[in-house]
Amino acid sequence: MTATPVTPTTAAQAPARADLRVVAARSDRLGADLTDLGVDEGFAEAAGFGGQANQTLLLPAGGPGPDTLLVGVGEEAGVDGNRLRAAAGAAGRKVTRHRKVVVALGEKAADGTSREHVAQAVAEGWVLGAYRFDGHRSKPSEVEVTSVVLTAGAAKVAKDAVARGVALARAVNLARDLVNEPGGSLLPADLAARVKAVGAEVGLKVKVDGLAAIKRRGLGGLAGVAQGATNEPRFVEIAYEPKGKPTGHVALVGKGVTFDTGGYSLKTSDGMKGMNGDMGGAAAVIGAMSVLGTLGVKVKVTGYLPLVENMIGPDAIRVGDVLTTRGGTTVEVQNTDAEGRLILADGLRVASEAEPDAIIDLATLTGACMVALGPRVAGLFGSDDGLVGRIHAVADAAGESVWPMPMPEHLRAGLDSDIADLRNISGGRHAGASVAALFLRHFVGDGIAWAHLDIAGPSWITDSAQGEVPKLGTGFGVRLLTDLLAGWEPLPASG
Ligand code: BES
Ligand code: MN
Ligand code: ZN
Repeated sequence: MTATPVTPTTAAQAPARADLRVVAARSDRLGADLTDLGVDEGFAEAAGFGGQANQTLLLPAGGPGPDTLLVGVGEEAGVDGNRLRAAAGAAGRKVTRHRKVVVALGEKAADGTSREHVAQAVAEGWVLGAYRFDGHRSKPSEVEVTSVVLTAGAAKVAKDAVARGVALARAVNLARDLVNEPGGSLLPADLAARVKAVGAEVGLKVKVDGLAAIKRRGLGGLAGVAQGATNEPRFVEIAYEPKGKPTGHVALVGKGVTFDTGGYSLKTSDGMKGMNGDMGGAAAVIGAMSVLGTLGVKVKVTGYLPLVENMIGPDAIRVGDVLTTRGGTTVEVQNTDAEGRLILADGLRVASEAEPDAIIDLATLTGACMVALGPRVAGLFGSDDGLVGRIHAVADAAGESVWPMPMPEHLRAGLDSDIADLRNISGGRHAGASVAALFLRHFVGDGIAWAHLDIAGPSWITDSAQGEVPKLGTGFGVRLLTDLLAGWEPLPASG
């Protein structure tokens, strides 16, 4: 991806010789907004443009001066950072043949929304919307934008806000690139190498363990899932150390299944589509950690990524096999397609041994979570109300939807095995996302605040692009993690 510069300026100083101006229109103020722009209301109406959120309408200049791209932001009272991020995203996706673009969206923010917040959201939205995954086309799509100017103001605060928005969006786009890569061209070793390269670029310490070390360390869940694959697994640890004394230590664990066939509990052909994205949790951790230094995050952060393919082969695990996970818990594999929890068991255990203040795991874990919440909302589980509440709040503000989910105690017995400490699925068909969360909980050290995000839905979108969110890999989780870590404070003691 080429990095088109995005810079702020004042409305008065916006370049007059732009090729395109992007402006907002509100659905309940459409007449007034169009009159201000000298646009005929009847024309907009005939084109089906009503100012609804993320609608767009291109108005050619028909002479000298820039073309205009109208973007709907919905009703006046609800025009907040999330609406403007989405509108900027919808615009960024539309623009292809213009080179010099002026984005004037922040002007329509509702009263009480801070200028700084708006500037950041619009910058973020633009860079997220302009994202393309082009590496596998013989001819890359021809986007010609060479410069973007946001009318966010020229002050230092506006500059910082726009720079922050651009940096965050690029971190999300990094995660998208990893998620979108086909399984055959991003093996566990390739993904580990990408993490190494990112780490070298931004100053993160990265340690990569291969199969021998994984076995030596007793990561039997990860080694077990890897048995069916010719391509060996990796266990990656990423360390971010803030300058100065850390305000705490947060551990992140990301599911990194680079392709999930289901193993001998084989998926259907349709069920296997998109399973190259089964490392979306790992990608979110990588994306978030890539920008911690730029953001000046003050908490120490450690990432743990079990990376593996879930394949079939002569040595693949059978249904009924027993694996010994790190720490000694034995698990009877009753379904080889419930592989995410097997590798996260090891990841959560290793994270717990470092005794962090909190552990957050992200995983494309269950289809059941999508049944419960739909494709655009992540399930949020956890042992600590303070941590869960914080994640919910930052996710809402960052434009990522999460919803708190229960871990009913009566479901726990469903994970009892006849021959081992646990089995990896329960007998029943119900509450699959909660059962998976209860399984994970077993591996979290006593007294450590823990939250689990099931991102099976929002990490990989198959219906349509919406606002700043594209089809396929979305980079979901990067923004909520970065905001959580940037504002990190010690958790109040609780349970
Ligand atoms: N990677 C899948 C979950 C998934 C499904 C992610 C659809 C994204 C879209 C996971 O490994 C899996 O296969 N889960 C099983 C669990 C079941 C066997 C208990 C599932 O959801 O069917
Ligand atoms: Mn699976
Ligand atoms: Zn999976």
